[in-house]
Amino acid sequence: MVYGYVAGAVETGASFDTARLAFQNYRFKPRTFVDVSGRDQSVELFGRRWSSPFGIAPLGGAAFVAYRADIRLAEAARTENVPMILSASSLIRLEDVHAANPDAWFQAYLAGDQPRIDRLIDRVAAAGFKTLVVTGDTPILGNREHNIRSGFSMPMKLTPKVVWQSAMAPGWLLGTVGRTYWRHGSPHFENTDAERGPPMMSKLVRNTAKRDELQWKHVEAIRRRWTGNLVIKGIVTASDARIARESGADGVILSNHGGRQLDHTIAPLDSLAEAASEKGAMKVMIDSGLRRGTDVLKAVALGADFVFLGRPFLYAATVGGADGVGHAIGILRTEIDRDLALLGVRRPGDLDQGFVVRTDGRPL
Ligand code: GLV
Repeated sequence: MVYGYVAGAVETGASFDTARLAFQNYRFKPRTFVDVSGRDQSVELFGRRWSSPFGIAPLGGAAFVAYRADIRLAEAARTENVPMILSASSLIRLEDVHAANPDAWFQAYLAGDQPRIDRLIDRVAAAGFKTLVVTGDTPILGNREHNIRSGFSMPMKLTPKVVWQSAMAPGWLLGTVGRTYWRHGSPHFENTDAERGPPMMSKLVRNTAKRDELQWKHVEAIRRRWTGNLVIKGIVTASDARIARESGADGVILSNHGGRQLDHTIAPLDSLAEAASEKGAMKVMIDSGLRRGTDVLKAVALGADFVFLGRPFLYAATVGGADGVGHAIGILRTEIDRDLALLGVRRPGDLDQGFVVRTDGRPL
């Protein structure tokens, strides 16, 4: 059930598949007989140089999947010098994650309730975060039928099905759940609001009221209050990217939430070139469906300033903690280095739309 929670998507899985398969619609046109020695995949973003053009996307409930996963992801990101975005649905206090990695970003799920928003923003700022990500694709939760089938829920209910599955996974039960309770007490939703949320295992439900009232006017108000970098995540169209820019965002992350919200959503990759063509000073980033170095470089060639991946890094944290995440980062980094060489460029910034073509012959 825990694997299903992470791996699963909504309804038919069309959004998940579309985001992934979109990368098949683009092919490279590499250049040859180019000196590609001295390759450097580091990229500057928000006034800071990162060692690779990718980072770790927000992952809700991660510390229930792998022991202290948010901290492990943050540590690995710090060691490897890539950004890590802490999810609002995390079970470890944002202050503790910031202490583990002062360069981590924070992602918020907000209600259309300005005083509540302001209190959370003030907490995030007081903790020292410099980049705030506001997600727009979750006015209510998507229809995750696989969770109903497996028995997974948040808050968690101890049904016979859940008890049986937990007993059959002693490594997880003792190594993640047991160890968490023993050392840190019952996990709570720590970062949904300025105030601590309810425990994960309780009848109390998180306050998700009024999320369906969140609007661009709130984004504008956040812009006035938040002095750090403001990133809007969970949009899939160039027109929403334009509104984000006009609302004062410093960046957008095109995303269909890894196929976890509206089913049959377009692939963010297919809006990337158009969104990037009118970004101005704003940074355009993307997640959903990236798995390989070639995916990263296709996105960069289409105009992405940066990309994010989620699930692969949580799997890595589950298998090997911070070292596992570091290893996964290393795999992707090695792929990117190899692909840069094979494409005939030294740096991600050397790529442009001349390096990609759509397989169906349509314009980018
Ligand atoms: C959280 O954002 C999730 O998609 O489960």
